[in-house]
Amino acid sequence: MIILVGYATVEGQTRKIAEAVASAVEAAGDRALLFDISSGGEYAVAHPEAAILCAPVHAARYPAAFARFVRQEAAWLNAVPSAFVSVSLLIRSEFEEEREEATHFPDHVFEESGWKPGMIHHAAGALRYTEYDFFKRWIIRRMAEHENAPTDVSRDHEFTDWKALSAFVAGFLASAKA
Ligand SMILES: Cc1cc2nc3c(=O)[nH]c(=O)nc-3n(C[C@H](O)[C@H](O)[C@H](O)COP(=O)(O)O)c2cc1C
Repeated sequence: MIILVGYATVEGQTRKIAEAVASAVEAAGDRALLFDISSGGEYAVAHPEAAILCAPVHAARYPAAFARFVRQEAAWLNAVPSAFVSVSLLIRSEFEEEREEATHFPDHVFEESGWKPGMIHHAAGALRYTEYDFFKRWIIRRMAEHENAPTDVSRDHEFTDWKALSAFVAGFLASAKA
């Protein structure tokens, strides 16, 4: 099966996640087309047989290029098996109501585009303090304090559960082929 693994990223964690998704697809014997949605280019095969899209939450929204891509491609995305991986920080909250809130981040994109992915995975992202500028570091540290996330800005912190991600991909491939 040829599977489009499309991603948008701001700081790179979702690229890393999409690369892990593509590796899991290839390890299962299928072909992954890794595509950076924000590049504005075309993906190499006109009609992949399935799609897994990945995008991060920044200020409660996904990147505009991602939302645009989903709007443009909703018709074929709905015609093939498709899945969405939402990357956020809130999904790792210790409070259930915050985790629940994080599961609703995609609602807006789905409503405005009409895309209905068959499967959705919520992955925790990363705090890349060492790569933020002063202002961003200050804002994110405040957010981290509020969410009981690490506030040590001298290093980066990664929360992605890689095993859960590959289990999700395996489940998607099984259902796409069924
Ligand atoms: C400026 C900024 C705003 C963010 N806003 C949110 C948010 O509203 N909710 C959330 O759950 N995570 C938020 N995050 C956490 C990101 O989703 C997380 O850092 C993710 O790993 C970013 O993915 P990327 O590296 O692919 O851009 C924010 C991160 C940054 C840097």
